[in-house]
Amino acid sequence: MSYISMNLVTMFYLIASVCFIQALKGLSSPSTARTGNAFGMSGMAIATVTTVALIFKLQAQAATTGGLGFSLVLLGVVVGGGIGAFAAKKVEMTKMPELVAAMHSLIGLAAVCIAVAVVAEPWVFQITTPGVALPFGNRLELFIGTFVGAVTFSGSVIAFGKLSGKYKFRLFQGAPVSFPGQHMLNLGIAIALIALGLVFCFAPGVEPAWTPFIIMAVLAFILGVLIIIPIGGADMPVVVSMLNSYSGWAAAGIGFSLNNSMLIIAGSLVGSSGAILSYIMCKAMNRSFFNVILGGFGGDPAAAAAGGAQEQRPVKSGSADDAAFIMSNAETVIIVPGYGLAVARAQHSLKELVEKLTHKGVIVKYAIHPVAGRMPGHMNVLLAEAEVPYDQVFEMEDINGEFGQTDVVLVLGANDVVNPAAKDPKSPIAGMPILEAYKAKSIIVNKRSMASGYAGLDNDLFYQANTMMVFGDAKKVIEAMVKAVD
Ligand code: TAP
Repeated sequence: MSYISMNLVTMFYLIASVCFIQALKGLSSPSTARTGNAFGMSGMAIATVTTVALIFKLQAQAATTGGLGFSLVLLGVVVGGGIGAFAAKKVEMTKMPELVAAMHSLIGLAAVCIAVAVVAEPWVFQITTPGVALPFGNRLELFIGTFVGAVTFSGSVIAFGKLSGKYKFRLFQGAPVSFPGQHMLNLGIAIALIALGLVFCFAPGVEPAWTPFIIMAVLAFILGVLIIIPIGGADMPVVVSMLNSYSGWAAAGIGFSLNNSMLIIAGSLVGSSGAILSYIMCKAMNRSFFNVILGGFGGDPAAAAAGGAQEQRPVKSGSADDAAFIMSNAETVIIVPGYGLAVARAQHSLKELVEKLTHKGVIVKYAIHPVAGRMPGHMNVLLAEAEVPYDQVFEMEDINGEFGQTDVVLVLGANDVVNPAAKDPKSPIAGMPILEAYKAKSIIVNKRSMASGYAGLDNDLFYQANTMMVFGDAKKVIEAMVKAVD
């Protein structure tokens, strides 16, 4: 029986890598995102089938020594693929960040498990032969891969808990958790990890130095928790993409040990694109990139608590009919979608409303804040799902200059991203760039109550003299507006 040759494996891995690069390129714009996804799926299919073929070959070669359990690998593909397909079909758009965090945790755990297997039996992976010690380079790669994987695993579990907001456990609460000496403790652990790394890498003898390796893994799991718990509220999006980056680097580290070009390339792509996205988001939220990576500088609980106190101030409220009347008589309208619009699944009704207004001669644009909603690109995905034309959708920096000359801004289920408190240096969201809706001639805000948004802050925009609140679920309110415009 003939098995796949290593040249063929390399060629298929190269094809898969090109597909992944094309996927990233496609995903950079909503209009090419579908093609990008198709490339990503094809690349992953090629990579998976090639890897299974490679494992089959290794299994056959190692048959005399017991080797790998091929049936277990197939079981893994079927069970893992099944769970993935089920989750992707079932998960709601608003729960996507939790799903992503959960997936990252699995990537981290997989990196740790693979590294442990390689340290235990490197000859099965054709890195050494039995009785020969692991070379220094492999030890270093496996040590770093395990460390990054363990941090990614426990950090992602905490991020999952914080994002889902369902669990009572203190560490899973959205509010930052900090204690005196936290950063010193993190630093102490980091120094201990370096020392353990030296002991592991320079240990004499054939047997791996398990003690420093296991202590490192435990400390790395603890460090992952310690890095994420002090980050709260508005910094969560950066954490998710940072963990995405960590999971990529963990995979790349393991790829070096296994001499697997696919893992190295795909891991580096994930690692670097996650880091770039984190940097862009840090800029969008005016947070220091390094402070977020090192953990714990994101939230000021005292300030958040003070800012979150609800004031009893009068607001002007009106009906969906009033809002429809105002918009129908405007020349220009800008729509600011937010998390509430996604929760209400109101994107299709919104598109209908915009079509009706446009038909009446109103110029309507959508303004997208980079962290509106609960995941990167959340609002773009939402509008794309309703097939909103891309030329009506504008990014924050392209539309912010227009609010001052706009007749009406319709804020739908958005809160933090239009909160003028960001201009106040004492606010917990100080410096976060916002969509400058408060500058418009008149503002209509739809939400269900006066409750705060994700950052837990009151919003002055709602109390402005030229603001009208329309209370109610976004879908019902927009449907009523559509009828009223008719
Ligand atoms: P938020 O500030 O969270 O505000 C959403 C508003 O929607 C809430 O005030 C809520 O008020 C309203 N709402 C909820 N359900 C609604 C419904 N069915 N109908 C109408 N309104 C509804 O959202 P945003 O302005 O989009 O800002 C996003 C926030 O999430 C930022 O703080 C951001 O940092 C954070 N975050 C973003 C991400 C990413 S990557 N985008 C990830 C994690 C966190 P009521 O309860 O009164 O209705």
